Amino acid sequence: MPGSPTALDELRAALSDWYAANRRDLPWRRTSDPYAILVSEVMLQQTQVARVVPRFEAWLERWPTVASLAAAPRGAVLGAWVGLGYNARALRLHAACALVAREGWPTTVAGLGALPGVGPYTAAAVASFAFGEAVAAVDVNVARVAARLGAGTPQELLPAGAAADFNQAMMELGATTCRARSAACADCPLEAWCASAGRVEVPARAPSGAGRPRFEETNRWVRGRIVAALAAGDELPREIPPERLAPALDELVREGQVTRHRRGLSLG
Ligand code: ADE
Repeated sequence: MPGSPTALDELRAALSDWYAANRRDLPWRRTSDPYAILVSEVMLQQTQVARVVPRFEAWLERWPTVASLAAAPRGAVLGAWVGLGYNARALRLHAACALVAREGWPTTVAGLGALPGVGPYTAAAVASFAFGEAVAAVDVNVARVAARLGAGTPQELLPAGAAADFNQAMMELGATTCRARSAACADCPLEAWCASAGRVEVPARAPSGAGRPRFEETNRWVRGRIVAALAAGDELPREIPPERLAPALDELVREGQVTRHRRGLSLG
């Protein structure tokens, strides 16, 4: 019937109403500042929301603007990233902000995606949250929600003029009711439209630990310990044997995360 809402319109309205009533009040949802949003999205790539919140707030207090981060020494940026993991992301964020400080913000997905360390998901997140571009931000969680729903791709589901809230709502659904390993279909606002309602198959968990080294046995752990020690102004950890320490340190030097001086080492 002309003028009557379609099933897709109803689905969108149900999602939007659910998000309005259930959204977590997260600090990056209170801003449309592209810099703050980029910082949050890079942090959230590897770290859980609850752990990111205080780190995000401290970061913005220390470096409130693109220009302030661009002007910071690499060592300080690496030091402030300790515990968030994958330091290369901090360096790329720093490089992206240096570029933006010189040239201004790209305001489209294509332009944002050309910044260092900004992949398609992050570009779409910043483009929609900060610049209102009508683009779906599809990370693994959003892709899973849409695949289970079976009503179209995230981009097809996107409502006109409300991309930011739609993207946040899809992420919220993936983080709360439509999780990878459990689906609370009875609580889901999209249950009535969902092809998988009540019969979501959760993937079997990989046998715990099987074939996977403990974190303390990995090179990543050694690298993290070195960076944390230098950030704290400490000596290199003595309890790590030199045959593990030396190659990790060499890598960090090669990657520009650590500099050797005649009298020691520094971050950056
Ligand atoms: N994970 C990645 N981006 C997010 C966001 N904007 N809000 C909540 N969780 C997220």
